[in-house]
Amino acid sequence: MSPIVSDFITALPKAELHIHIEGSLEPEMMFALAGRNGVKLPYDSVEALRAAYRFANLQEFLDLYYQGMSVLLTEEDFYDLTLAYLRRAAKDNVRHTEIFFDPQGHTGRGVAFATVFNGIHRALRDGERELGVSSEIILCFLRHLPAADAMTTLEEAMDYRQHIVGVGLDSSENGHPPELFTEVFAKARDAGFLAVAHAGEEGPPAYVWGALNALAVDRIDHGNRALEDPALVAELVTRRMPLTVCPLSNLCLGGVKDLSGHPLRAMLDHGLFVTLNSDDPAYFGGYVNENYRATQQALGLSDAELGQIARNSFEASFLDDKTKAARIAEVDVYLNGG
Ligand code: ADE
Ligand code: ZN
Repeated sequence: MSPIVSDFITALPKAELHIHIEGSLEPEMMFALAGRNGVKLPYDSVEALRAAYRFANLQEFLDLYYQGMSVLLTEEDFYDLTLAYLRRAAKDNVRHTEIFFDPQGHTGRGVAFATVFNGIHRALRDGERELGVSSEIILCFLRHLPAADAMTTLEEAMDYRQHIVGVGLDSSENGHPPELFTEVFAKARDAGFLAVAHAGEEGPPAYVWGALNALAVDRIDHGNRALEDPALVAELVTRRMPLTVCPLSNLCLGGVKDLSGHPLRAMLDHGLFVTLNSDDPAYFGGYVNENYRATQQALGLSDAELGQIARNSFEASFLDDKTKAARIAEVDVYLNGG
């Protein structure tokens, strides 16, 4: 017997592979940290801040996202932010998470790389002990800044090499193609980092090709606009390239008008290797299970499809093969009514 429908998504074991830790900063915590650090926010209340979360596109969101980061100043702030996310993710039965962080969003305003990294890393270790959620850290370069800044950031990250599994590319996509970062990614891969990149969120299929060919990524973050290019879809299928899809993010940033038009259905039908994720849950109104639920309702996903997406999330993760197999076996036990 399969588990009852209303509980199926809640208790389904899953990994989250696309979550910007700074995008998990809930308005309540933003105000608490602003108070603790003496930072003045341009909003009078949590409600006024939430009311400002209406975005026509990626850039409108990013403007508030970078503004929100201004309250994150001490190692304790990054610790509290990360542990709060992990506790919330554990409630969604996230068993493994691979979190992005944006060091340039902090070093650019005078917060040391070590302050950011140590707070996040300590919370992930404590969280694993408290909650049993395993994790990896992915360092993202901000693509609206020059590649030389990304290179400086990569050099800073070398001291933390054994604690950072990969590098990524995020921020304003249009006008900032992957090829600008070819050298940075080559150097990162030579140093043993795995690689991911946001591509095809707002940008054209050419940027997804660029992420594959110039950056040699191991996963594509989003990838929605790949569907406009049949040869690209075929290439992604052949390579079994994971896509970290974020439906509520796409809805909030105008990538789709409503979820019934979300490309996830076509991605599944094409045999693409998809996972479901929250992106910036504090800004987009839902953590990972809400992303599963909303797409299930809008697209009529079956339990078998949701189960396959959860299996994919572990298979596409950067866990070692043995741990992956163990986590996938947990999903299978669950799907078989265990
Ligand atoms: N940084 C945080 N969230 C992002 C997104 N959805 N796209 C690009 N950069 C981001
Ligand atoms: Zn993202």
